[in-house]
Amino acid sequence: MLSKYMDASFIRNGRVSSLKIANERDSRWMSLRRTYWAARRHLVRRDVLAFVHTGLIQPNKPPADAPQINISGAGPISDAVAHGIARQSGLTLDIIKARLDAGQLIVHANADDGALLAWGWIALADHTLRLDWETDLHLQVAAGIGYLFDFETMPAARNHGLYRQLLAVAIKRCFANGAKLVGIYCRADNTASRRGILAAGFTNAVPASVLRLGPLFRVKTRDRTRWGWAMGDVPLTEMLHT
Ligand SMILES: CC(C)(COP(=O)(O)OP(=O)(O)OC[C@H]1O[C@@H](n2cnc3c(N)ncnc32)[C@H](O)[C@@H]1OP(=O)(O)O)[C@@H](O)C(=O)NCCC(=O)NCCS
Repeated sequence: MLSKYMDASFIRNGRVSSLKIANERDSRWMSLRRTYWAARRHLVRRDVLAFVHTGLIQPNKPPADAPQINISGAGPISDAVAHGIARQSGLTLDIIKARLDAGQLIVHANADDGALLAWGWIALADHTLRLDWETDLHLQVAAGIGYLFDFETMPAARNHGLYRQLLAVAIKRCFANGAKLVGIYCRADNTASRRGILAAGFTNAVPASVLRLGPLFRVKTRDRTRWGWAMGDVPLTEMLHT
């Protein structure tokens, strides 16, 4: 059913044991994780750094020990990948399907035997970025923008350059799809994400504090504070990158 959706898919050499990865997250805790986040996401503050990529800066070369990722080009996303992301990320299959139905794309890296190692999402112009897992804000991506979000590398596969390689592929995909600018944000204290983002050629880090307070949100940057309704779609430009 999910196979009609297009994405960029990857195969890599099998340096990381897929058995280890399969055992990484105990599914018994997933429902507890979901319940916690369902309660948290309407009352949460996030200090973030928002970045843009203009296409002018090439990504740094990945580290020498980075797994070889072969990009097989745009292809259909399999049910196995969707289920793998659902199992590992905590997103429900319904949310994954809704995002794909809305035209959002997944980039992912897999071991030779198919085990999922890393993934991330792309929202292109006029899509709504649904931060289901975080603040449950629905951010409307403006024309000419590509937005990257919800990237994750399985713990056992971390620090092998997968994130920055996926970012590089996702950025390329956004520009190929007509974006003039690509955006991403990370939590201000997320060193690995910030370094990966910078290594992928993003610049102009803008610090912002995003507060979700039930039906309201507040965004504080160095220059201003703005309140708005969190219900319905919120233009991304009102939140970040202003
Ligand atoms: C952030 C995350 C995706 C990075 O994935 P990864 O595949 O391990 O990243 P990479 O191997 O490409 O490394 C990216 C950079 O982070 C650095 N890094 C990796 N792990 C690190 C750590 N624990 N602490 C500090 N820096 C770290 C790497 O050295 C690299 O920086 P460099 O290019 O300057 O050398 C991964 O840690 C993760 O899934 N975290 C939880 C989810 C998350 O935070 N997602 C990001 C949402 S924006």
